[in-house]
Amino acid sequence: MKIAIMGSGGDAPGMNPAIKRFVEFCLEVGDEPYFIYGGLEGLIDGKIQKASYEDVAGIIHRGGAIIGSSRSKRWYEKRYRDQAYENLQKSDIEAIVVLGGDGSFRALDVFKSEHNVNFIGIPTTIDNDIYGTSLCLGVDTALNTIRDAIDRIRDTASTFSRAFVIETMGRECGYLAAVSALVSGAEVCVIPEVEFDKETATKMLQAELAKGRSYLLAIVAEGTKRTAEIAKWCEETLGMETRVTVLGHIQRGGNPSVKDRLLGFGFAVEAIEALHRGEERRVVVYNNDTFSTLAFDEVVGKRYQIPQEILSMLNFLD
Ligand code: F6P
Repeated sequence: MKIAIMGSGGDAPGMNPAIKRFVEFCLEVGDEPYFIYGGLEGLIDGKIQKASYEDVAGIIHRGGAIIGSSRSKRWYEKRYRDQAYENLQKSDIEAIVVLGGDGSFRALDVFKSEHNVNFIGIPTTIDNDIYGTSLCLGVDTALNTIRDAIDRIRDTASTFSRAFVIETMGRECGYLAAVSALVSGAEVCVIPEVEFDKETATKMLQAELAKGRSYLLAIVAEGTKRTAEIAKWCEETLGMETRVTVLGHIQRGGNPSVKDRLLGFGFAVEAIEALHRGEERRVVVYNNDTFSTLAFDEVVGKRYQIPQEILSMLNFLD
């Protein structure tokens, strides 16, 4: 089978290990691997090339993706999707493995309905906001990057007796903020999924400050859009000198962690095996140390929920 792999949307650490394993496994089982460079934009522009072992040598440790990625406005127009189909036909590619989020899976589903090009999705985003999988590719590395940043910020916060408000990525999902706050011992965590009880937090923190607390870490998920408000609250209500750190795109980069390398391998192999089983329009998921697939409609039709055991631990000041 001729199978192409592509990235789409925000990149995440672990894409390169997945791409490497994709090529190796295809060649091991007699498939022909192809790269689509530059995501949907590259597909429209015909940036498609046969892949070899040499292409994936020396990439296992690198963040980002050697095949690139993009968000494409042109994809919304049918004429560009038709052009993409013509490009694929030139190489007789039968299926696409897409490393992306649910927007990317939707983009390929439109393509499937118009041109019958099958696809398998690999959930790839640091946001961990895809239904049906306990982890998306890239989340573990991003969490380690955030932990490292917060540890460093704690050093200066404690030395200087300041409050730090640290904003994490994640779009509408508070997973990165919630897990980071827990493992970093932050005092405050504000995420879209949970109502932040400012009044109670004020009382508890004022009591702690009166007892001698000298610094404070507050983790705020970008999706809440409350970073500035929380900083003002620390400064004005709690009376602490406050600084804000928006972690930004450093969360997306860096060498993939051990977990993300292993996830990349597993996701890639399961995607190819799913194609061999004749599966269509499915997404690889990872739960309880096992890879399997779910129907596209189920994955995009339901909303990811942060596990209750994580949410119930967000009771910081106990
Ligand atoms: O979806 C991944 C992500 O990094 C989000 O966490 C963030 O909101 C967004 O992408 C940033 O997008 P861009 O890289 O286009 O600024």
